[in-house]
Amino acid sequence: MSHYIIRGGNRLVGALGIHGAKNAALPVLAAAAICGDSVIHNCPRLTDIGVAMKILRHLGCGARREGDTIVTTRGTGGDCRIPDGLMGAMRSSIVFLGGMVARHGCAELALPGGCELGARPIDLHLAALSRMGARITETGGRLVCSAPEGLRGARIDLSFPSVGATENTIIAAATARGETILTGAAREPEILDLIDFLQGCGAKILLELDGTIRINGVEQLHGTEHRVIPDRIAAGTYLCAAAITGGELLVKRVVPGHLASSLAVLSQAGCQVTAGSDWVRLAAPQRLSAFGTVKTMPYPGFPTDMQSVMMAAATVADGTTVFVENIFESRYRHVPELKKLGARIITEGRAAVVTGAERLTGAGLACTDLRGGAAVVLGALAAEGESTVTGLEHIDRGYDDLEGNLARLGADIIRIKE
Ligand code: UD1
Repeated sequence: MSHYIIRGGNRLVGALGIHGAKNAALPVLAAAAICGDSVIHNCPRLTDIGVAMKILRHLGCGARREGDTIVTTRGTGGDCRIPDGLMGAMRSSIVFLGGMVARHGCAELALPGGCELGARPIDLHLAALSRMGARITETGGRLVCSAPEGLRGARIDLSFPSVGATENTIIAAATARGETILTGAAREPEILDLIDFLQGCGAKILLELDGTIRINGVEQLHGTEHRVIPDRIAAGTYLCAAAITGGELLVKRVVPGHLASSLAVLSQAGCQVTAGSDWVRLAAPQRLSAFGTVKTMPYPGFPTDMQSVMMAAATVADGTTVFVENIFESRYRHVPELKKLGARIITEGRAAVVTGAERLTGAGLACTDLRGGAAVVLGALAAEGESTVTGLEHIDRGYDDLEGNLARLGADIIRIKE
């Protein structure tokens, strides 16, 4: 267990390269379970990625890290059960389900853990696999999924564009018999990255203009070399850190288009934002203006993963900002922590009303979840005096060396290892 000590008030100034996207690397690693030997570049050093590598090894594949690259091998044999400890460590482990059934004809796992963001059902994942011929039973928190004769293509209409259910369906369909037609799918950049990886491995996947995804199952997928897209949420977090401290930041190795909705909000807050082909520069005013109403939506709308860090910025903006969380029902667990710093926030159901405070004051804080934890750190960076932040295991799931990067930009932050 370790914690941060943060002395707030420093402007963040400088430049930063952004690591690969956790939420893209995870489904790509899950897909690697059914592909030939692959070389996957730009994999961030995060605990969630470490868990994914362990799961791959359990399934009989090889997975080793060389710098920012992970080399996977198809391997043979392996287990169709993921140990409970690994499932509990990360909710996204559910994204291995489709690949496991495709690889082994069976999967047995405990229901997933990870960030607690209210009820996070997996009914859409299961309905899709069952349409593809999998038999699914669920008893005592354990899920048993089997398809001894293999999966078959099917028509799948998602009632909500779930990111994970879309990924699971694409992976399962890649080697299923026949065609899968997937409508109502999520369109996040991380999904396009997964499709790109699978196409590189020989998968027949077509993305139509109306968002329908057609997958013609192939017998076997070979390996490929792939570069994971940059992490748009990490980039957005650092930009918010610059914004909340009145700083100036150049983020490099990003896809500015992936950040469009967040950049629009930061511009509305009075930041000067310019972008090139793979960089974004932000110069914040001394005091941010309130941002109006920010509603989280599926991509290309404003991402739920940016809601907490943008809220941290709103706590010191001039005026009132309203957040409406449309994706997860319980994603305001960072609010009581921000309030300890003196933030003025009222929540009611899915809405949070933030009235900018003149100043925040350092406090003893805890990370409640991954992105909520980042919001708490940002609040502490803007606060006068010293804060301590515990619960860093949440941060380590999604940010590679958050404290090192912030310190290089001028923040007074140190990690105390206990
Ligand atoms: C992914 C991201 C997460 C992000 C989220 C929304 C990864 C590893 N995680 O999570 O960071 O916050 O997308 O952009 O990529 N739902 C159901 N039934 C299902 C599946 C989902 O009702 O079977 C609901 C969820 O409860 C939630 C909403 O759909 O309210 C969105 O979930 P989903 O898009 O599936 O998010 P994840 O894939 O879990």
